[in-house]
Amino acid sequence: MNLKSGVRNVKQSETPSALTILFGATGDLAKRKLYPSLYRLYRKGHLSSGFAVIGTARREWDNDIFREHVKKSVMESTAVQEQIDEFISHFYYLPHDVSDSDSYVALRTLANDLDNKYALGGNRLFYLAMAPEFFGTIADHLKEDGLTDTEGFGRLVIEKPFGHDLPSAQELNEQIRRSFDEKDIYRIDHYLGKEMVQNIEAIRFANALFEPLWNNRYISNIQITSSETLGVEERGGYYETSGALKDMVQNHMLQMVSLLAMEPPISLQDDDIRREKVRAFRSMRPLTLETVNDYFVRGQYGPGEDGMLGYREELNVNPESNTETYVAGKVMFDNFRWAGVPFYIRTGKRMPLKSTKIVVQFKDIPMNLYYRPDDQEMEPNLLVIHIQPEEGITLHLNAKRAGHQLQTTPVKLSYANSGVDVMNTPEAYEKLIHDAMRGDSTNFTHWDEVALSWSFVDVIAEAWRNEKAAFPNYPAGTKGPKASDELLEKDGFFWWPMNMLDVNICN
Ligand code: BG6
Repeated sequence: MNLKSGVRNVKQSETPSALTILFGATGDLAKRKLYPSLYRLYRKGHLSSGFAVIGTARREWDNDIFREHVKKSVMESTAVQEQIDEFISHFYYLPHDVSDSDSYVALRTLANDLDNKYALGGNRLFYLAMAPEFFGTIADHLKEDGLTDTEGFGRLVIEKPFGHDLPSAQELNEQIRRSFDEKDIYRIDHYLGKEMVQNIEAIRFANALFEPLWNNRYISNIQITSSETLGVEERGGYYETSGALKDMVQNHMLQMVSLLAMEPPISLQDDDIRREKVRAFRSMRPLTLETVNDYFVRGQYGPGEDGMLGYREELNVNPESNTETYVAGKVMFDNFRWAGVPFYIRTGKRMPLKSTKIVVQFKDIPMNLYYRPDDQEMEPNLLVIHIQPEEGITLHLNAKRAGHQLQTTPVKLSYANSGVDVMNTPEAYEKLIHDAMRGDSTNFTHWDEVALSWSFVDVIAEAWRNEKAAFPNYPAGTKGPKASDELLEKDGFFWWPMNMLDVNICN
């Protein structure tokens, strides 16, 4: 086999013509992310003239209202509006009741018509952008009412949350597997569509520099932070049932952990990457009800400055809520590569800044020949992966201080992606939709990963459910509870302050 041929090339294929049937077409996700992403794909020429979208939801809209809605959502997200009218002419709307067979029969008729009109070859993407309790019913109907019965592909794209614990995720999975094979199920974790999350593999496996050092011999700990300035906004009802653990840790945070921890795959094909991620999940040290508090801590924001509300005062939140809005934890891998290296994760709402970063801290050199002015300790080497809002990598090194023979000064080598959307998320959706259309499931979560991450998280959730926390324990707008710092201190580490990790600042 020619090692240089790159299996990736196989996946760079043309986007096939396809019909997207969108459930939840009047919803927030469709408006903020999906329509602008489809438009960008269209503008970049990734959707051929052979594409059509049927939007469904309960509202009694018609094609005209729907097209105006799509147009407005695109115009709110981008200054460029070329070909917008041509773009929206591919959108069709059907009012829909998810549990009524007649609705599906009408949907099938329209889908078949559009298949002919746009020559779509029977390729269908069923995108469920709505409350998960309907996923099973919809999947059943799609099969029973003949929507999946075409010559082309039938893929199911589903949004999180995929269950709220392992048993509910299993039940949901069994339901959708009655109608779709695992290979046709695309479970979205939008972090996997982020440019720099996808870059983790390239940084590790395309550089002779890092992979040889990527183990417990040279790395002392890895820190992953995803902080948000927003509170729960109008999502209190959902958030009360989820909390930061299920909202962020079970999916996005553990996905990043698995990409950092996995062994090199034998190719970049989805199955090969997935196999290694699953192996990484399997080697995570499981927690028990007794050990949870040694590894994980939680927080909830109280009122902050400038009238910022505490979590318990937010809309649809129980005034005595025990729900965490912050989680910090230590994940250990019991395998040869990582034995003894903590992977620290933290995520929270109402933090001082919106930022997602990974810091790989290398071990100290065995003997210190140099010193820094004022007896400061020499800093360890760090590799910082900036996921958002800036995108790039920074390598923290020590260099000789000019003119001072024995003194060192920290220097940073930075590479920053430019010209990307600040929030980055629409980009992520754009990539993921494109991948689903092309049949590349690399950046979607396989059932095995979902199951393993739920079984890890379920124990934490259970321990916390049984024990009421002393909430609130951090004011809105601050960096989280003290316990989070103590988690690292007891191992002799500290969280690298976010502001010293900026891409562009040189010390
Ligand atoms: C979502 C969570 O999955 O991710 C939200 O449900 C969270 O609560 C969001 O705000 C964070 O995504 P991003 O891309 O803004 O970091």
